[in-house]
Amino acid sequence: MTIERVGILGSGIMGSGIAEVAAKAGIQVVLRSRKQDTADAMIASLEKSLAKRVERGKVEQADADAIRGRVSATDSLADLADCDLVIESVVEDLEVKRALFTELDGIVKEGAILATNTSTLPVVEMAVATNRPDKVCGIHFFNPAPAMSLVEVIAPLTASDETVAAAKAFAEACGKNPVEVKDRAGFIVNALLFPYLNNAVRMLENGTASAEDIDTAMKGGCNFPMGPLALLDLVGLDTSLAILDALYEEFKDPNYAAVPALRRMVAAGQLGRKSGRGFYDYSKK
Ligand SMILES: NC(=O)c1ccc[n+]([C@@H]2O[C@H](COP(=O)([O-])OP(=O)(O)OC[C@H]3O[C@@H](n4cnc5c(N)ncnc54)[C@H](O)[C@@H]3O)[C@@H](O)[C@H]2O)c1
Repeated sequence: MTIERVGILGSGIMGSGIAEVAAKAGIQVVLRSRKQDTADAMIASLEKSLAKRVERGKVEQADADAIRGRVSATDSLADLADCDLVIESVVEDLEVKRALFTELDGIVKEGAILATNTSTLPVVEMAVATNRPDKVCGIHFFNPAPAMSLVEVIAPLTASDETVAAAKAFAEACGKNPVEVKDRAGFIVNALLFPYLNNAVRMLENGTASAEDIDTAMKGGCNFPMGPLALLDLVGLDTSLAILDALYEEFKDPNYAAVPALRRMVAAGQLGRKSGRGFYDYSKK
């Protein structure tokens, strides 16, 4: 099946990144946010990101204009009806996602694939909330989506081989390197990454070293491009907490039990870059 038109739900960090990736690949993109002003803000941020790439000589102005021309924004789910693929990328909350899949199933044309960008949640739970469980899978992009080459394609028990093959072909068409993974919490990357991130918060909480020194150590000592606390700020502490909670719920492994400091920071609204403050202060940057 050919994917020519993609709908994206959710105007957060990931939704806008995925929109940019798909539009660059020559695919028509309809972005849906609950409010028209956030949908419009996403278009503005896409324009800004494209302008930066033109400035740096990474893309020609004409190509940037063509990419921009392929993206439209809406606050109405009905505008996704004609999409060949819809990628849900809203808050990491199973009940919210399930309700959205049921609603989408009633709107999006028959035969279209409904995918989730969830980081950890059981994809099968979203599949069975629809009348097309064979057409539901996970297409998990990484942050920032335009820069990261990996996509995890998650095959729940209910998905057809055709759906999984189409999802992989879509990721490849977007210039990404897909891997196929079973429907287990955290899939490959987050299942391995989050115990490490959680332990970095524990190390900060017990006073072993400062945030700066923990991050400097892991960059310089392991050649990681960024330290664990800066990475948590980039992912979003609320999303990170939801990921750890889902991993703990599934495996009951103490390595996945979120460190109390992380939960308290989320309660305080310190969500990382997106709120201006997390382990670091972004308000003046
Ligand atoms: N942040 C990351 O690094 C990352 C990486 C890969 C995948 N993901 C996954 O992508 C998804 C979105 O994450 P994000 O980082 O973009 O989050 P975000 O906090 O930046 O954005 C969340 C979006 O969900 C919307 N939303 C909140 N409640 C909603 C509701 N009840 N109904 C509809 N929309 C609602 C918000 O308006 C916002 O647009 C999550 O499933 C997350 O696990 C995140």
